[in-house]
Amino acid sequence: MKKLIILTGAGISAESGLKTFRDSDGLWEGYDINEVATPEGWRRNPELVQEFYNMRRKAVVEAEPNAGHISLAALEKYFDVTIITQNIDNLHEKAGSTSVIHLHGVITKSQSSVDPNLVYDIEGYEIRMGEKCEKGSQLRPHVVWFGEAVPMFEPAAKICSKADLFAVVGTSLQVYPAAGLMDFVQYDAPKFLVDPNAPYVSRNVQVIQEKAGTGVPKLAQLLIEQFA
Ligand code: APR
Repeated sequence: MKKLIILTGAGISAESGLKTFRDSDGLWEGYDINEVATPEGWRRNPELVQEFYNMRRKAVVEAEPNAGHISLAALEKYFDVTIITQNIDNLHEKAGSTSVIHLHGVITKSQSSVDPNLVYDIEGYEIRMGEKCEKGSQLRPHVVWFGEAVPMFEPAAKICSKADLFAVVGTSLQVYPAAGLMDFVQYDAPKFLVDPNAPYVSRNVQVIQEKAGTGVPKLAQLLIEQFA
């Protein structure tokens, strides 16, 4: 089976009711990134950070995957699929995808604030202040904040270097190192992009300028017809 690698961003979850970051009325518009998505913000006001992610976690837990997530999961019948997502929601897994790399962590898990290797599942919506890890430190969201290392980047880049087919869905490609993953894909591997606003990438990328809910099923059909 051909290796199909798909890089996804907030756009694939927009039609599931989860806000993107940089579209109009995006998630960041109500909040200062430095207050809620940096280690400094956590040190300054952990309660505000907890509140921000508890609110987002409730929306994620209640969200359902859309046709975009479901079409990608169905491609596992035809290709050796790995999804590399910047999203901290778990909608790819809810749709049935079995190989998902979360570059920026996942909101449904917590981690120790002194040892990032101590990761825990969260029952329900909340991490409460006072909840501690086995080392006695406050639990924080298991997400990568701005300025923190992206430990899954190396493995993801290696996987991209072996892609036979590569697709990008619903990301503005403005945040590195994730946005640089396409550079690791072999030049002659067919590349595709699904996005209604289609950020310009390069000549040899086939663009489907549609929302994920209709564009990803179209991409899936094209991939099956031409490459399966
Ligand atoms: N279907 C597909 N794409 C969509 C849809 C949709 N329904 N709606 C919006 N988009 C596209 C937008 O055109 C844009 O290109 O999704 C992209 C969203 O871009 P961002 O909001 O910047 O989200 P993303 O690229 O995932 O951000 C990357 O930045 O804030 C950090 O850590 C955060 O993981 C996030 C990273």
